[in-house]
Amino acid sequence: MRMTYAARTWWEDRALPRLVDVALSDVTSRPWREAVCGPVSGRVLEIGFGSGRNLEYYPETVTEVIAVEPADLAWERAADRVATFGRPVRRIGLDGASLALPDASVDVVVSTWTMCTIPDLDSAVREMHRTLRPGGSVRYVEHVRSHHPRVRRVQERLQPFWRSVAGGCHLARDIAGMLETAGFVVTPLYPEGPRRPSSPARLELVPFEAGVAVPGGHLAE
Ligand SMILES: C[S@@+](CC[C@H](N)C(=O)[O-])C[C@H]1O[C@@H](n2cnc3c(N)ncnc32)[C@H](O)[C@@H]1O
Repeated sequence: MRMTYAARTWWEDRALPRLVDVALSDVTSRPWREAVCGPVSGRVLEIGFGSGRNLEYYPETVTEVIAVEPADLAWERAADRVATFGRPVRRIGLDGASLALPDASVDVVVSTWTMCTIPDLDSAVREMHRTLRPGGSVRYVEHVRSHHPRVRRVQERLQPFWRSVAGGCHLARDIAGMLETAGFVVTPLYPEGPRRPSSPARLELVPFEAGVAVPGGHLAE
C-alpha cells in the first residue's frame, strides 16, 4: 500500500512511537480505554491507531477496525495485537484529515490521545462527521486545555517547546469545543476509578477528558 502524508522526521517516525507506547501503557490508560472502547460495536474507525493498544478493549460485537496511522513503526508494533484480535484490522490512511472512506460508512469513530496531534483537526472532525453512519458517534479521550486560568497560561507558554518534542502535539486544545463547532453534541464520559475529568479546581498540566460526540445529538436506538 502506498500512502503519502506531510514529510515526517526521524523523531516522529522512529522515536516517538516507542515513547508513546510507554507513556500510554495500560497502567495510565486502562480506565480511559475501558470507558471509550468498551461499549462500541460494528465497524470502528480508529484515528491515530498507534500500536493497537485499544484492540484488547473492544468487545466481540466489533466486527472490523479501520485504522488511520501515519507512523509506520507504530503500525509495525501493532502486528501481534492485530493477530490476536482475530477480526479484520485494515490500515486505510495516514491522516485523519483526509479519509478514503465513503460517507456514512462506519458505526463508531474512536480517538484516544490523537486529536491533540492532528495538524488540521477542523478537517479531521469534518471527516469524522462525514463518515459516521446516522446514529453513530465519536468516542474519545484526549488531553485538553485546562479549565484553570493559571494552568492554561503555563500550557500556552510551554506550547512551542512541547510541540517540537511531542510531534506537533497541542497541549491546550479545546477538543469538545472543536467537536461542537463542527456540529456534534458532546456528552462527557467518566472512567471508573479515581481519575476524574479536568475541573477548575485541579491544577493538572495535562488534564484528560473523555466524551461521546453525536452529530446533531441523536443516538440510534
Ligand atoms: C499519542 S499517540 C496515541 C496512539 C493510540 N491512539 C493510543 O491510544 O495508544 C497519537 C497517535 O496519533 C498519530 N497521528 C499523528 N498525526 C496524525 C494524523 N494526522 N492523523 C491520524 N493519526 C495521527 C500518531 O502517529 C500517534 O500514533
